[in-house]
Amino acid sequence: MSIMRKKIVAGNWKMNLTKDQSLELVNEISKNVDNLSEETEVIVSPSFVNLSSVVDSTSRNKKVQVAAQNMHFAENGAFTGEVSAEMLESIGISTVILGHSERREYFNEGSHLLTKKVEQALEHKMRIIFCFGEKLEDRQSNNHFDIVREQLQDSLFHLNEVDWDSIVLAYEPVWAIGTGETASPEQAQEMHAFIRKLVENKYDDEVSNRVSILYGGSVKPANAEEIFSKPDVDGGLIGGASLNASDFTAIINAI
Ligand code: PGA
Repeated sequence: MSIMRKKIVAGNWKMNLTKDQSLELVNEISKNVDNLSEETEVIVSPSFVNLSSVVDSTSRNKKVQVAAQNMHFAENGAFTGEVSAEMLESIGISTVILGHSERREYFNEGSHLLTKKVEQALEHKMRIIFCFGEKLEDRQSNNHFDIVREQLQDSLFHLNEVDWDSIVLAYEPVWAIGTGETASPEQAQEMHAFIRKLVENKYDDEVSNRVSILYGGSVKPANAEEIFSKPDVDGGLIGGASLNASDFTAIINAI
């Protein structure tokens, strides 16, 4: 059975790039992906302050989608410095990254909080790129499968099957993020197959075959093709290499 799952290459710009730099980069990427096939989706994720300008500059190019890197769980209120789903919606954002390991690690985002964010995003019919993955010590102690199972169970497995149409999974082993060390294609495939099986066991094979599972962690032009060639790897969430138009384009082309 051939499965049509969406291929996605998403660039997480993190806390990088000014407004002008963001516009320059997205314009360069837009030019490069003009002839890309329909099955592949390209996403860029600028900082909150630059989201609006990047959305405006991509509005004529449907090939590049724009995502937020985070959002708050509440509808609105006294949460100084935070950004709501409604605000994102109002500027044309319908995809949000949640659960990135940097949010978990530096901003104490745990599964209880992330579950609330997931629910709020779904309430606003937003698509979620949900990130998760084990730390180095988890892998060294052979706990990586348990950790990943827990992260998914805690924040996503209470959702219904329809909700899963709005979920994109991003497996990002923490030890591979920004370190230059990537999971081998075999390690990525092994974990992605495990994740798909978890979803199948919880729901059914229709849900599990439909969900795109991205790999993230030091994906570069030199390793992208091999990682993306694995059957359960449906694309990537790219940090460092997404800040350079030609590297990011090469990674997109690798899919
Ligand atoms: P990296 O980051 O590609 O720089 O390792 C990936 C990520 O944090 O999503």
